[in-house]
Amino acid sequence: MTNQLKQTIKDMVVVGKGILAADESAKTAAKRLASINVESTEETRRQYRNLILNAPGMEQYICGVILFEETLHQKSDDGILFPQLLEKNGIVPGIKVDDGLADLEGHPNEQYTKGIETLSKRLEKYKKSRPRFAKWRAVYSISENTPSELLIKRNAEGLAKYAKVCQQHSLVPIVEPEVLIDGIHSIETCYKVTGKVQKAVFEALKREGVMLEYTILKPSMVISGKQAANRANAGEVAKRTVKCLKSNVSAEVPSINFLSGGQTPQEATAHLNRMHILGEELPWYVSFSYGRALQDPALKAWHGKPENVEAGQKAFLKRARLNSLATKGLYSEEMENE
Ligand code: G3H
Repeated sequence: MTNQLKQTIKDMVVVGKGILAADESAKTAAKRLASINVESTEETRRQYRNLILNAPGMEQYICGVILFEETLHQKSDDGILFPQLLEKNGIVPGIKVDDGLADLEGHPNEQYTKGIETLSKRLEKYKKSRPRFAKWRAVYSISENTPSELLIKRNAEGLAKYAKVCQQHSLVPIVEPEVLIDGIHSIETCYKVTGKVQKAVFEALKREGVMLEYTILKPSMVISGKQAANRANAGEVAKRTVKCLKSNVSAEVPSINFLSGGQTPQEATAHLNRMHILGEELPWYVSFSYGRALQDPALKAWHGKPENVEAGQKAFLKRARLNSLATKGLYSEEMENE
């Protein structure tokens, strides 16, 4: 078991590379496709996945892709199952395994992540598609009374139990506690909430006996609320994010791969880059696991038209390349105009 986990970490923690989150549920995929006036059907979702997962040369920047269950069974235009296509190109396939959100009792505005009871059974089912890692996302919103202590506790326990079960099935768990960007809160408030959430998650992971050296953390950045009046600049986001991680995340964790969470593609790249030029020693590899920030420009360039596939792939590869540079602190804003 540990040999497989060790190999997966080796294949997924590679300087200059990051993870692509292409695990939008059918419901989220429908929202993304609606934004370009494309009806969401199994076939249009396949066509879109085909564009992204077949982008030539993406393996220079991407070492792993998180897939949604439906994509495990879909094929590329050349008739190759998507997980196999990724493996063939030297990219590790993974699978989103949380079962979405459920209402938190006594807290009308909060939802916890469900799916633990059926997780083991589902992992057995996914085995034939040979995913090598998994992802579980928990969300926390910031407002006057949220997140509640109960949500922080419930989600931490869920993430820890999930991680333990994954490792028992030889899958590397990606642990994703996402503090949502929506709201008018300050970066200071985000720092406090994110710290509390990360602390609870790591206490739970340790209590559960999760092997941290075979675990990847996918956190949100410490950032001002999207609707805040005075939003903190990139230097501040980088400084606070690294400070928060250093205070709460064990150095045994090999890799931290951020989510983009509603930042613009440029912001997400610039923030990651700034973390690498702070001059601070980072005890983990620090990279990306973006969904929207890698895919949105591709979606817009494609617009559901076969003649735009190449333009879509180009737009996706550009973001992948710029984020790869950001993991080394080598990105600059001028590169956006190249
Ligand atoms: O669960 C969320 C995705 O894995 C990351 O997507 O970068 O668009 O927030 P995002």
